[in-house]
Amino acid sequence: MPDTSREVRLATLPSGLPRPQDFAVVETPMPVPKPGQVLVRNRFFHVFAALRTLIGGSVPGAPFPGLSPGDTLFGAAIGEVVTADGDDGPRPGEWVSHWLGWREYAAVPVAECTPLGDTLQDPVAHLAQGRTAYGALTRGAEVRPGDTVYVSGGAGSVGSMAGQIARLLGAGRVIGSTGSPAKAGRMRAELGYDEVLIRGSDPIADQLAKAAPDGVDVFFDNVGGEELRAAVGAANKCARFVLVGALSGQLAEEGTGTTSPVELDSFQLLIRQVTLRGYSPQGDPGVRGEWLDRFAGWLGSGQITFPYDRVEGIQNAPVALHDMLTGHHFGTVVVAL
Ligand SMILES: NC(=O)c1ccc[n+]([C@@H]2O[C@H](COP(=O)([O-])OP(=O)(O)OC[C@H]3O[C@@H](n4cnc5c(N)ncnc54)[C@H](OP(=O)(O)O)[C@@H]3O)[C@@H](O)[C@H]2O)c1
Repeated sequence: MPDTSREVRLATLPSGLPRPQDFAVVETPMPVPKPGQVLVRNRFFHVFAALRTLIGGSVPGAPFPGLSPGDTLFGAAIGEVVTADGDDGPRPGEWVSHWLGWREYAAVPVAECTPLGDTLQDPVAHLAQGRTAYGALTRGAEVRPGDTVYVSGGAGSVGSMAGQIARLLGAGRVIGSTGSPAKAGRMRAELGYDEVLIRGSDPIADQLAKAAPDGVDVFFDNVGGEELRAAVGAANKCARFVLVGALSGQLAEEGTGTTSPVELDSFQLLIRQVTLRGYSPQGDPGVRGEWLDRFAGWLGSGQITFPYDRVEGIQNAPVALHDMLTGHHFGTVVVAL
């Protein structure tokens, strides 16, 4: 067991999107678990877009606090329990998921450790954002066979799973959006999208009208802004919109990533009888087990993939965050320790 552990801290408050120099990789004494905690050696952690919002001060009512200079970053992690006192909770050698990523070792409260179990063969698959995507499609939008589904941000961590899951739930046509033609090609080839809209080229509304000539039944929104406005214009009668993220405001260079305003035409919402619903798997405890069973089955039959970019070493995590925020990765971004 080493005497020290490394972790990533916010060094300065960025102006604009966080850059690698806004973070410090710091060596600290090995954490000592208190009663009711276990020591976990982290093996993988998730590099995720919402960190930009936490660095910007977070959003009122959000489940996670904002980050200040000097704070260690946090987020979903997978690790192996090294030491555990008492008889309750996970045992040494057991793999768990928890929220104290961005560090090599973590003292984690037993109550905040979720044993991985043996449903999925590959532990890193527990960092897939399919639980959110599956919950939003089954509970939020209630996808039906034959639906035309539009997934904004369809190449990202949540979106890369949402497009595939929509198809497996019976969607007839699946449309996504992304920031580059290269990613659009991969989305068609690897994730099964029928059509892909490209942010920053022709207006999204025009691209969507061509991609969905018969209109949109379900909109899975990771982006907001222009994409949400375009979806209202393409919505079929009684279309179901599930709002999962707000990348257009969250990852805007200007501002703090804590608001995502958009102007919508209320007339069109009411005439088309559109349902708008926000979704989060927090407060939906049944969705995790249901998702894991379906994910394992679909992985086993080769019907789904978990696309992720793997970055080696905690020293490379700040660059990985910047690259993810600026669209240089595909699927989920995972740091391997
Ligand atoms: N409701 C919930 O419980 C829940 C859970 C997880 C995540 N979320 C939210 O869902 C959203 C998606 O999360 P994620 O982790 O999957 O993020 P993500 O899509 O992996 O975020 C990174 C991607 O965002 C895209 N992007 C960059 N700048 C953008 C801009 N200005 N406008 C639109 N897209 C931009 C880029 O992809 P392209 O190059 O492909 O465009 C980039 O690769 C986020 O807002 C996140 O906070 C919500």
